[in-house]
Amino acid sequence: MTKIKLLVVDDEKDLLELLVRRFKRKEFVVDSAGNAEDALQLLKKNDYDVAIYDIRLPKMDGITLLKESKRIQPECEVLILTGHGTIDTAIEAMKLGAMDYITKPYNLSELEVMIAKAYENKRLKEKNDSMKTIIAQHNEFTLVGDSPNFKEVLNMTKRIADSDVPVLIEGESGTGKELIAKALHFWSTRAEEPFVPVNSGALPEHLLESELFGHVRGAFTGASQDKKGLVEAAKGGTLFLDEVGEMPLSLQVKLLRFLETGEFRRVGDVRERHIVVRIVAATNRNMEKEVAEGRFREDLYYRLNVVKLMIPALQERKSDLPALIDYFISKTKNPDKKLSATARAALEQYGFPGNVRELGHLIERGVLLSKGNMIEKEDLLLPLDKKEHNVFAEVAANQLCSLEDMEKEHIENALKQMEWNKTKAAEILGISVRNLYRKIEHFQLKE
Ligand SMILES: Nc1ncnc2c1ncn2[C@@H]1O[C@H](COP(=O)(O)OP(=O)(O)OP(=O)(O)O)[C@@H](O)[C@H]1O
Ligand SMILES: [Mg+2]
Repeated sequence: MTKIKLLVVDDEKDLLELLVRRFKRKEFVVDSAGNAEDALQLLKKNDYDVAIYDIRLPKMDGITLLKESKRIQPECEVLILTGHGTIDTAIEAMKLGAMDYITKPYNLSELEVMIAKAYENKRLKEKNDSMKTIIAQHNEFTLVGDSPNFKEVLNMTKRIADSDVPVLIEGESGTGKELIAKALHFWSTRAEEPFVPVNSGALPEHLLESELFGHVRGAFTGASQDKKGLVEAAKGGTLFLDEVGEMPLSLQVKLLRFLETGEFRRVGDVRERHIVVRIVAATNRNMEKEVAEGRFREDLYYRLNVVKLMIPALQERKSDLPALIDYFISKTKNPDKKLSATARAALEQYGFPGNVRELGHLIERGVLLSKGNMIEKEDLLLPLDKKEHNVFAEVAANQLCSLEDMEKEHIENALKQMEWNKTKAAEILGISVRNLYRKIEHFQLKE
């Protein structure tokens, strides 16, 4: 059984000693302080489940201590000890986030019940938070495909899901790397714990470090509060480092240390923290090349690459197409639509540079543009079909023209193809219908 970590702060020595002695015998780990300043030092160093503050303390009072404590450790539940005549302050304390108060002189068993309640409360909040993420993630989790190529990846995924070793997922853009990362998580005993994705390429270096490892107040301009990083949010679960090839070199050092020891520091903090998480990384870059060209640390690469999962491009597993097509149609608002034979044949021929994600978009658009119950080849608007994209053919023939001319021609083409249905034309062009009307007027286009 895990012991409840308790912090008791009271300037009355006898009372404090009594409390500590009593609780140490029970299921508690107890730290104590005789004033707020010492208490704050302890709060910065250790995590507590429940803290008990006397409201009257020398120098910094219990209310100020409560505020600071909620800032440093918002999750730690606080109970307030009050004397006579300080009930109003106790109520103020509740407004500031204290869970309850007890008036001196109090009964120790009564206090114990309050502590147990506070602890239960904290655990429920934690459970609730992680349940919310789990439910959201379960809802969007389906893996389709049974080509031998893809099955091999799935089998390997199942086999290594439960182990703790880091996994590196490689694959072209849109092949389903994130989906496989989720499978590694949800098919493991970690499934009830959080799955936390980090996009390693999306943020400038210093922001990424604080995003990952957290920061303390004042660590940099704008850091007005202590903040947990994603590493801590992923505690006991999976940390998914997406686009890991784009991680800045300086941060790679810190990540390596974390991988080796589980240790890290929040930005601006002196305290070492320790966390256990499963690391899954993904990249669409050729990591060996990144290492050879000095953009990625070799030692980190070997640490991440304990097991490698290569997700084949859709082109290399065309037998997955029918199942994927059915799946994507079933997710639209018109799940009963069917794909015509010519449309299907066209998809078989197509190269899918954007892989499964692109297929999903093509189908979604096809369902939207198709008139009857049948999705025709024309509704798919496959990018490589030169005949339908005569703008570009003409541009090539006439050599160069102005952007304005090209825009006019492109819009006119889209309108013709959609038989001047402006909603559909606007959809294809990726602009609003209003905007399309403005353009029609501007270019003086006529049906
Ligand atoms: N096997 C599959 N079954 C069902 N949906 C899939 C499958 N593979 C990919 N998808 C869907 O395709 C889209 C892209 O997948 P995902 O985001 O996992 O790809 P990715 O490899 O991470 O792409 P990127 O490199 O662009 O980040 C998602 O909407 C995902 O749900
Ligand atoms: Mg991705």
